[in-house]
Amino acid sequence: MNNELFNLNISPELRLEFLKSISKAKELMAYYECAIMEVETKFKVLNKQFSLMSDRNPIDSIQSRLKSPESILNKMIKRNLPLTIEAIEENLTDIAGVRVICSFLEDIYTLKKAIEKQDDIKVLMIKDYIKNPKPNGYRSLHMIVEIPIFLLNEKRPMKVEIQLRTIAMQTWASLEHQIFYKKNYPEDIIPLYKAQLLEAANISYELDIKMQDIKKETEQKIISCEPDLD
Ligand code: GTP
Ligand code: MG
Repeated sequence: MNNELFNLNISPELRLEFLKSISKAKELMAYYECAIMEVETKFKVLNKQFSLMSDRNPIDSIQSRLKSPESILNKMIKRNLPLTIEAIEENLTDIAGVRVICSFLEDIYTLKKAIEKQDDIKVLMIKDYIKNPKPNGYRSLHMIVEIPIFLLNEKRPMKVEIQLRTIAMQTWASLEHQIFYKKNYPEDIIPLYKAQLLEAANISYELDIKMQDIKKETEQKIISCEPDLD
C-alpha cells in the first residue's frame, strides 16, 4: 500500500475527507461505465432489429470510452470550475462517450430518431455537424443524453455523449486527430495540412452521398431476393 498519504502532515479529518472524495469519484466513474453499457445495449438492440427487418446492419462498430481523470481535471481547470465531484457531474457531459460508426449516412438519422423516441432517454443537446460541418471539415452527429442506471436502491440519471458518424467520417476524424492532437508543426506548413484535410473531408462526404444513392437506387430495382444462407 502507498503510505505517502499517511506521512503527509494533515489532520485525520482532512485525510478522511480526501479518502471519501476518492471513493466517491471511483463510484461516480463506475456509474458512468454503467451508463455506457446501457447506451451500448440500446444501439445493439436497434442493430439487431434492423438486421431482422432488412438483412443488413446499420452499425459497423461501436467504440466507447470513459474520460481519463487527467482529461477531467484539465477540462475543469480550463473551464474554471470548482474541483468537486458535484461540479464534475453537473458540468461535464462527455465523461461517458459512445461512438457509433454507421454504414450509411441515413442510418445515422434513423438511429437518432429511434433513440429520441425511447421514453427512458432524455435528449439534452444535439449538435449536427453533418448538416453544419465544422470549418475544418469535421462531420458527425453529437447527442448529449441522460439515461437512468438502476442501482440496488436508486435510479440514477447519467449523462452520456453519443457520436454518430459514417465509416468515412471516422477515418477522417482519426486522421485529423492523428495529425493535430498535441503536436507542433512549423507554422508555415499548418495551413497546407488544414487545406488538404478540408478537401479530404469534402471528398469523403461526397463518397458517403454517392454510396447512399447507389444503395437506394439498387434497392428500388430489386425484384426478388435469394435467401442468403451463409
Ligand atoms: P470538447 O471540449 O472537445 O469535448 O468539445 P465541445 O465541448 O466543444 O464539444 P463538441 O461537440 O464540439 O466536440 C466533442 C467531441 O467531438 C470531441 O471531444 C471530439 O471527440 C469530437 N470532435 C469535435 N470536433 C472535432 C474535430 O475537429 N476533429 C476531431 N477529430 N474530432 C472532433
Ligand atoms: Mg469531449
